[in-house]
Amino acid sequence: MSSANQSNIPVIAIDGPTASGKGTVAQLVAQRLGYHYLDSGALYRLVGLASFQRGISTAVEADLIPIAQNLNVNFQGDRIFLEGQDVSDQIRQEVMGQRASEVAVHPGVRQALVARQQAFRQSPGLVADGRDMASVIFTDAQTKVFLTATAEARAERRYKQLIAKGFSANIDVLLQDLRERDARDANRSNSPLKAVEGAHHLDTTSMTIEEAVNQVLKWHQAD
Ligand code: DC
Repeated sequence: MSSANQSNIPVIAIDGPTASGKGTVAQLVAQRLGYHYLDSGALYRLVGLASFQRGISTAVEADLIPIAQNLNVNFQGDRIFLEGQDVSDQIRQEVMGQRASEVAVHPGVRQALVARQQAFRQSPGLVADGRDMASVIFTDAQTKVFLTATAEARAERRYKQLIAKGFSANIDVLLQDLRERDARDANRSNSPLKAVEGAHHLDTTSMTIEEAVNQVLKWHQAD
């Protein structure tokens, strides 16, 4: 698919730090509009998992690039299959979030995932969530949203998510982990997390999910 004929297809890019609620908001916006949905973080988590399974360190870019290039992944509804195995819950674990953030610093890994992400841009539209959706992957997105919440609110959300999935969790450890990831994701030299010019800023700390979804839909209508 060439980018020329894809450029008519609207994209809503939602970027923000970990556990900001962007995944939930993005999925609901996609549902309301009947758009496709890209969870770009899942791709980095999959590289984190696939390299872990092969005993490859997140520091060795040369070994990670072929893994990113050859990921045998299948998205089916809200389930994600790696090599035919349902890994949806496994990739949500904190350790895979950390590994994802570590593999994501390597330019070669990021480059290997570009075309795969852009291929999600299909009619009638796409909602894409991540860190560099507006700044790198879909620079011509019709609507760009930078979604944040305080670190404390995000740690609490992540805590609830993990407990609901049956994992054990400690809120102080989570807060420390997400601060570490924020720092790594925002300070890396390649495609760091940042708000682009023209992005709508949405602080969801004291918002309900419904309010956040409606705000994004309103912006999209007006953009
Ligand atoms: O959104 P998430 O928590 O599932 O993302 C996991 C990690 O993947 C995140 O800490 C940084 C990396 N990531 C990235 O570098 N670029 C993206 N577009 C999405 C995620």
